[in-house]
Amino acid sequence: MILVFLGPPGAGKGTQAKLLSQDLKFKHISTGDLLRESVKEGTLLGLKAKSYMDRGELVPDELIIAMIEEVMPKDSGVILDGFPRTMKQAQALQDMLNKHGKYLCRVFFFDLDDDTIVKRLSGRRVCPNCGALYHMDFKPPKKDEVCDLCGTKIIQREDDREEVVRKRLDVYRRQTAEVVDFYKKENKLIHLDAGQDIERVYQELRKALKDGC
Ligand code: AP5
Repeated sequence: MILVFLGPPGAGKGTQAKLLSQDLKFKHISTGDLLRESVKEGTLLGLKAKSYMDRGELVPDELIIAMIEEVMPKDSGVILDGFPRTMKQAQALQDMLNKHGKYLCRVFFFDLDDDTIVKRLSGRRVCPNCGALYHMDFKPPKKDEVCDLCGTKIIQREDDREEVVRKRLDVYRRQTAEVVDFYKKENKLIHLDAGQDIERVYQELRKALKDGC
């Protein structure tokens, strides 16, 4: 079974995907995390992707589709976090699912207004070692600037500067909003109010999943 998490940057897709993948024992595939890992390791993919990411633009479809094909498991449930983001990626996903006999269950759309997005991203901190997510106001670490899980100093993402966030929002509207419309027409889309606190968004997500596919 495949679940897709879509929505503007900072809407809480990664936060909710981490919670749900632990509970359901699903594989969490975040294209953003995979790309950042490649940049850190200095792979060819990382070298090609970095300049797009720094500018807040989408990495070319061919690179993203090849990356997803490589990591898509054959025999477990999957949460796709941040993929597909273009119609070309949505079509490639459909082809992959047909090939592997998998089924797209639901697409969750995390809906959030721009001002809240900017607030969330400016306060976001991440652990560069284990990937744990924090927010300095809404989900601060127990000890100042140190990851609760592994003790590493937490950092701010390069693309969370306000001017890059505005650019990412613009790119989202120009390229990803039509993917949301597409899944709506396909009757796959579940709308979530991402402006609630983390626990409430999670409850809404679990409730929607109870209805099955
Ligand atoms: P990516 O890493 O996917 O960035 P994004 O989609 O912009 O999503 P974010 O990770 O910024 O936000 P999120 O919705 O996961 O929010 P989070 O849970 O962290 O992509 C980065 C770049 O990679 C792209 O710009 C592009 O260049 C490239 N890329 C990635 N995928 C691609 C693709 N498919 N095609 C082409 N290029 C691609 O939450 C944000 C903050 O808010 C955190 O601090 C969190 O603690 C806090 N928070 C979360 N929920 C709540 C809540 N309910 N209340 C209060 N605070 C909350």
